[in-house]
Amino acid sequence: MASPIGAGADLAVEYRRLQASYQQSLVYAREVRQLYSRLQRASLQGLQGLANALEAKDPYTRGHSERVGQWARQTAQAIGWSECDADVVAQAGLLHDIGKIGVPEPVLRKNGPLTDEEWRVMKGHPVIGAQIVAPFDFFADGAVIIRHHHERCDGSGYPDGLRGVAIPFGARIVAVADVYDALTSDRPYRRALSSRDAIVELQRQAGHTLDADVVEVFLAARRCL
Ligand SMILES: [Fe+2]
Ligand SMILES: [Fe+2]
Repeated sequence: MASPIGAGADLAVEYRRLQASYQQSLVYAREVRQLYSRLQRASLQGLQGLANALEAKDPYTRGHSERVGQWARQTAQAIGWSECDADVVAQAGLLHDIGKIGVPEPVLRKNGPLTDEEWRVMKGHPVIGAQIVAPFDFFADGAVIIRHHHERCDGSGYPDGLRGVAIPFGARIVAVADVYDALTSDRPYRRALSSRDAIVELQRQAGHTLDADVVEVFLAARRCL
């Protein structure tokens, strides 16, 4: 019969072995997580290449995607979102117009008002953009933001005519950053507004087409108030 001391020693050895293998599995889990997030970043960097290609196609939007991404992140951080959620809204901001890659260049670069048919084509870009990022399961929340970045709080936006809080929060953030950047950039058909005039315009749209709280946080985060 084995002595109780021997059994105790065996248990201690077994306990140490289990503890070591538990520690090892934590290390593996951490490595897998790091690898997974590196893969995610690499996939999104590929998409960022597409966003750059789009800006090369449409010089008037040069730098637009990057600014919208940065401002969306600032706004999300000012609201108090986690780093992870702020990352998603920043990436979605960076890629929000990616669907314009499917819009023919003569429409994209047209100097002047679009015809009804050209508008119809142009207004397809949020849906095309969401379809482009759809294969990236980890970016499902980003795809939703891309789809809805042209929704307006009064229901006048597209593609689904959503209203108020039915519009995903991230899409309301990207919408404010997008409108502000469009106002302060030269367009083929008009000069850029000064930042002071753009702030007045943003405040005029707050509570109608744009989320009033998001506009306030956006302007405060950009030290415009
Ligand atoms: Fe857009
Ligand atoms: Fe945009």
